[in-house]
Amino acid sequence: MRFDILTLFPEMFSSYFNESILKRAQDESLLDIHLHDIRKFSKNKHKKVDDTPYGGGAGMLMTPQPLYDCIVSVKKKNKGPVIFMTPQGSKLTHTRARRFARTNDSLILLCGRYEGIDQRIRDLLVDYELSIGDYVLTGGELPAMVFADAVSRFIPGVLGDDDSAEEDSFSRRLGGRKEYPHYTKPAKFKGLEVPEVLRSGNHAKIEKWRKKHLK
Ligand SMILES: C[S@@+](CC[C@H](N)C(=O)[O-])C[C@H]1O[C@@H](n2cnc3c(N)ncnc32)[C@H](O)[C@@H]1O
Repeated sequence: MRFDILTLFPEMFSSYFNESILKRAQDESLLDIHLHDIRKFSKNKHKKVDDTPYGGGAGMLMTPQPLYDCIVSVKKKNKGPVIFMTPQGSKLTHTRARRFARTNDSLILLCGRYEGIDQRIRDLLVDYELSIGDYVLTGGELPAMVFADAVSRFIPGVLGDDDSAEEDSFSRRLGGRKEYPHYTKPAKFKGLEVPEVLRSGNHAKIEKWRKKHLK
């Protein structure tokens, strides 16, 4: 799966994407992440990318020209849909993340800053708008990382055990419910013991216990 991420702050992504599972997935060519600095596309002599909103109001907006040129340039290499991360979008869920992973080989993620982006970019070039929750962050970079991570877990081979994404909270196998409690060694910690049934080796009983403890 290819991700092209359009942002004013490409450096923000390096530590997250260059560690652990997502790093290994890139090393194994399961994931291909390209970062694009929107500011580089600004035709303004000072590389300005924001301006005041028509109609007044607080804050600045990202101007359309750098965004338009950046998206058009990226679209030459990535034929996937353009997704704008915004609190006004549809809520990112397990089902949506899974669907994006199953139905696309590539995605383009657009990160807003300031009070957001000029509406004409949304009208002209954006295919989907996604929110990671009902709160407002300072930029779309964290939402893009959250989205890329959630989608990547559904790409075959990214997780050590391919089945794990299908057995986690919200999965069909758990009936859309949240996972049961987990325990590891030691069997006793700070006076709290791992439930006897989980140590019994009786898989039917363990399964029953886990089903009962779904949230
Ligand atoms: C300060 S926010 C703009 C908020 C916008 N004025 C509003 O009221 O909906 C700046 C950028 O951060 C990103 N962002 C903030 N919160 C988000 C969320 N919950 N989900 C997705 N993106 C978010 C978006 O890209 C947004 O354009």
